[in-house]
Amino acid sequence: MRQSALLVSKTLTEVAKILKAGITTLSIDQLIGSIIRDHKAVPSFLNYNGYPFNSCISVNDVVVHGFPNKHALKEGDIISVDTGVVLNGWHGDHAYTFMIGKPADEVIKLVKVTKESLYKGIEKAIVGNRIGDIAFAIQEHTEKKNGYGVVRELVGHGLGKSLHEDPQMPNYGKRGTGPVLKEGLVLAIEPMINMGKKDVFTEDDGWTVRTKDGKPSVHFEHDVCVKKGKADILSDYTHIEAAEKANANLFADY
Ligand code: MF3
Ligand code: CO
Repeated sequence: MRQSALLVSKTLTEVAKILKAGITTLSIDQLIGSIIRDHKAVPSFLNYNGYPFNSCISVNDVVVHGFPNKHALKEGDIISVDTGVVLNGWHGDHAYTFMIGKPADEVIKLVKVTKESLYKGIEKAIVGNRIGDIAFAIQEHTEKKNGYGVVRELVGHGLGKSLHEDPQMPNYGKRGTGPVLKEGLVLAIEPMINMGKKDVFTEDDGWTVRTKDGKPSVHFEHDVCVKKGKADILSDYTHIEAAEKANANLFADY
């Protein structure tokens, strides 16, 4: 499963290298499909419940499940790129939110806090804890501490020979509740955090989820293996972050 997760990380790294204003999200989706196939893996999102692309690319007020399209990215956009693979029968599924140029300060803060919340959740993904401990940590950092809206309708999930396995992994909840975490369980932990209110709606295409208030939303996702004492993060942001920095535009406070 680490190999599967790292193939997604590698794919997102290649995306990080080419991201800039002017390119279309459809061209990113095509790049993603070709990288995955070049590594003898299968893009797992394509045809999943009829999903028509290799990736979900969600810009600004799109929370998740955005369709790649021919619209050009512009300075100040934020974009969640989420993709998945099946390699040797095992799934990898993770996501990263990128900034195009320099978004407004309040948007940069939303990106930063959402990423932090993912790691706060991961800290709780240890043997003997419960799903609610992870969920609470994410909600505490985003909703309670920063006043953001935690999306309720969509959740993370177990991951393995299928893309979506039990247990569900919500980004809100109570400490000490929910399934107990056993060694070796792999979770896709994926906070979806709105700058404004938590409410979302699904467009007529049946997939695209947007914030009701039109304010931006951020999505990060890691594949995490539950262990004793310290979670093992199977996916890897290191090279994505390095490419993001080298590519242009990262500013001192992010
Ligand atoms: N990463 C998302 C998830 O965890 C996207 C999958 S939806 C798909 O559920 F249809 F695009 F596959
Ligand atoms: Co997922």
